[in-house]
Amino acid sequence: MQPSSNAMTSSRRWRAVPWAWLIALGCAGQPLASPAAEPLALQGIMKEMGRGMQAIVDGTSREDYAAVEKAALAIAGHPQPPLGEKMRLMAFVGTDAPRYKAMDGAAHDSATALAKAAKGGNGEDVIAAFHRLQSSCLACHQTFRKPFVEQFHGKADGRR
Ligand code: HEC
Repeated sequence: MQPSSNAMTSSRRWRAVPWAWLIALGCAGQPLASPAAEPLALQGIMKEMGRGMQAIVDGTSREDYAAVEKAALAIAGHPQPPLGEKMRLMAFVGTDAPRYKAMDGAAHDSATALAKAAKGGNGEDVIAAFHRLQSSCLACHQTFRKPFVEQFHGKADGRR
């Protein structure tokens, strides 16, 4: 009976292998799949902020400062990516997380300042505040956009 019990053991072992692999892949699936994964929710949030900037330019041209204020407040209070995505992003930025958060905070503060300037209704103040807001967007893009796009969208070129 010795050989047949050995055969049993080894066939059981073989049957166990695919499951072990599936479980291992299941655990590793998230980070492995990320370059080809869906666009980040962050990307949709960014697109919306881009549209907000256009609304600000348009409102400034028409001296419609109420529209400028509304768009600036929407940028200041932009939504956050879902928690799971946020954790992936923060795991990726690693020790740069405080820098990323500081830049996010700076953009928030600049957008709030722009809303305040718009409320004041002084065109030059609005334009100056808009300039500062654009610079705060640019600062983060220059640092983080390319690595994010490469990591999460699998594109070698950060621009498109
Ligand atoms: C704290 C960092 C940070 C700040 C601040 C920031 N962005 Fe971004 N932005 C990113 C990253 C990272 C990407 C790339 C995201 C991606 O492709 O998934 C991006 C991408 C974008 C894109 C391209 C989206 C697309 O179509 O692929 C736009 C538009 C954009 N941001 C607008 C803005 C505007 C406007 C501001 C300022 C009001 C701003 N961002 C501030 C990090 C930031």
